[in-house]
Amino acid sequence: MDIWHIRGGERLEGTVQIQGSKNACLPILAAAILAPQRCELLRVPALSDVENALKILRCLGCTACRREGTVYIDSSTLSACAIPHELMAEMRSSVIFMGALLARCGEARLSLPGGCRLGKRPIDLHLQALRALGARIEEEGSALICRAERLWGAVIELRFPSVGATENAMLAACGAKGETVIRNAAREPEILALQDFLRAMGAQIEGAGTAEIHIRGFRPRGCVQYKIPADRIAAATFACAAAGCGGDLTLQGLEPRQISALLHFLNAAGCDIINNTHTLRVRNDTRLTPIGPVVTAPYPGFPTDAQPLLMAAMLRASGRTLMRETIFEQRFRHVPELCRLGAQIRVNGDTAEILGVERLSGTVMQATDLRGGAAMILAALAAEGESVVLDEGHVRRGYEDFDRALEGIGAHILLEH
Ligand code: UD1
Repeated sequence: MDIWHIRGGERLEGTVQIQGSKNACLPILAAAILAPQRCELLRVPALSDVENALKILRCLGCTACRREGTVYIDSSTLSACAIPHELMAEMRSSVIFMGALLARCGEARLSLPGGCRLGKRPIDLHLQALRALGARIEEEGSALICRAERLWGAVIELRFPSVGATENAMLAACGAKGETVIRNAAREPEILALQDFLRAMGAQIEGAGTAEIHIRGFRPRGCVQYKIPADRIAAATFACAAAGCGGDLTLQGLEPRQISALLHFLNAAGCDIINNTHTLRVRNDTRLTPIGPVVTAPYPGFPTDAQPLLMAAMLRASGRTLMRETIFEQRFRHVPELCRLGAQIRVNGDTAEILGVERLSGTVMQATDLRGGAAMILAALAAEGESVVLDEGHVRRGYEDFDRALEGIGAHILLEH
């Protein structure tokens, strides 16, 4: 159990170097097994989800080790195509190994994935995409057995632009004969990062960032070096921290345009936003004004992962903010916990109504999921007095040295393991 002790009320000021992206890193670690190659990945964040993916690689017979921010993988020794249940249960994105294993071995055995409990999180689109490429998939209880003597290029039309299904389809298509077209593909920056990495590995692929991706085969190149892009949700977290607590933060090493949907709202709420290509300054010294409605949507829309974070920032605004969640069914589980601080939030179906209060006061909260837990920490930083966030490891799944980064900008925070 992680116990976050927070004494709120401080203005946040200083510079934060943004970590490598968790969500870009995970599919790239899976992609590393596509061919017997060596990969060197730079700026890999030290997160429990990433460590879990490295364990999966080792369990498949690959060499995977970390030296500071760099991860070295040699997948030439891959010798298994099954992922044990304990590792699958740790995080949902392990399902991404399915497409990569099929492409490399023609077989993948795994179980239904775990991860944040945000309501129903089916994998039907992943299975539809792999079946379209010729995979036979049997479901036995919670076990999935996928086989394909040969994968064949196909047109895959996704009913919804799922990030994970798009990534799985891209990975499997690299092992297919002929051209694959993914229609209604997700357009998130992490898809573009995966395309860049696959190209470096030798894939002929284009279209990432648009709704149609074309994959035309794969010629392994031997050795690949790739730098993981910055984590846009970590950047969003610090931007919301400055907005909610008041302060002046400079974020470095990110691409601010990837969070322009969030920055638009922070600016409308009264924050000063100054951005360059790779730095972002967020300044706020006033009570935020209400905004919205904020409606989550696939990229380039407002990210569902930033919904709890922006909510935390708006708790002390001078009026009413509406937030509608359209991506996940149960993504307001942080709300009752935030209300313990004295926040006034009413949830009605997919919409939360936040009535700004003048002050929040310290309390004990229980982290419900990764971004919900981060939102509780942000809200506690904006509250008067002491708070405790009890956390079964959710926040550590996505934030590298979060306590130290916050301490470095003036927060009173202590993480007890
Ligand atoms: C990824 C991100 C997560 C983010 C989410 C949406 C990673 C590791 N995680 O998750 O942080 O919140 O994108 O931006 O990159 N769906 C189906 N069937 C499927 C797959 C998805 O119905 O087969 C539905 C889901 O239930 C959900 C919606 O599609 O309602 C979005 O899911 P998806 O885009 O797949 O999210 P993930 O890839 O799981």
